[in-house]
Amino acid sequence: MIIAIDGPAGAGKSTIAKKVADSLGYIYIDTGAMYRAFTYELLTSSISLSDIEEITKVLEKTDIEFKNNEIFLNNLNVTNEIRSKNVTANVSVVSAIPQVREKLVYLQRKIASESNSILDGRDIGTVVFPDAELKIFLTASVKIRALRRYNELIAKDKNIDINEIEIEIEKRDKLDSSRETSPLIKATDAIEIDTSNLSIDEVVNTILKLAEEICENE
Ligand code: DC
Repeated sequence: MIIAIDGPAGAGKSTIAKKVADSLGYIYIDTGAMYRAFTYELLTSSISLSDIEEITKVLEKTDIEFKNNEIFLNNLNVTNEIRSKNVTANVSVVSAIPQVREKLVYLQRKIASESNSILDGRDIGTVVFPDAELKIFLTASVKIRALRRYNELIAKDKNIDINEIEIEIEKRDKLDSSRETSPLIKATDAIEIDTSNLSIDEVVNTILKLAEEICENE
C-alpha cells in the first residue's frame, strides 16, 4: 500500500506523515529531504546550478538512502545540513531540473518498492505514484505556515523575522507551482485537508481512518 501526501511547504506534511507511518508500521519517505540532499551535494561541490552537463554527471554517482528517518547522501549523514538557509534558498531551482527529478523519482520508487510506504512531497500523487491507494493534499494559509516555520526556527535562531519567512514561503510556493516539470498541483483524486485550524493529531486520525477504510474494502 502507498499513501501519497502532497502540499506546499509548512502545511504539516512531514510531521503528519511520520506519525501516520509510525502508527501503521510503514516506511516514511521524505522526498523534499532528497531534493535538499542533492542540492546540498551541488552547493558543497561548488557546481553551478545552471551547468546541466555537470549536474547530470554528479547525479549518476549520487545515492540517497534513509535509515531510521535520517538521510544519507553517498553514505554520509546529512540530516542537519540539508535544513540550512543556503539549501532552502536553492532547492526550488534544483528541484525544477528535469534530470534531477528523473533520478530522484527513480530512487523514491525503488525505496517504496521494499515495503508499505508513505511518501510526502509535491508530485507524489500526480507523478511518482499516480496509482497510490490513498492520496492526501494538505494545505494551510500562508500566514499559518509562516507562523509554524517561525516557531520551529526561533528555538535555534533568535534573529528570525516572521515577515521574511512569509515572503520566502510565498516565493517557494510560486516556484514549485509554476515550474514546467511536475509542478505542485492537487491530483484530481486526492482528498484535500486544510490544516490551518486542525491539530496534528486531528489530521493524523483523519488519515488513519481513511487508510483503514481502504484496507477494509480491499
Ligand atoms: O518539503 P520541503 O520544503 O523539504 O521540500 C524542499 C523543496 O523540494 C521544495 O521547495 C520543493 C521540492 N520538492 C519537489 O519539487 N518535489 C517533491 N516531491 C518534494 C519536494
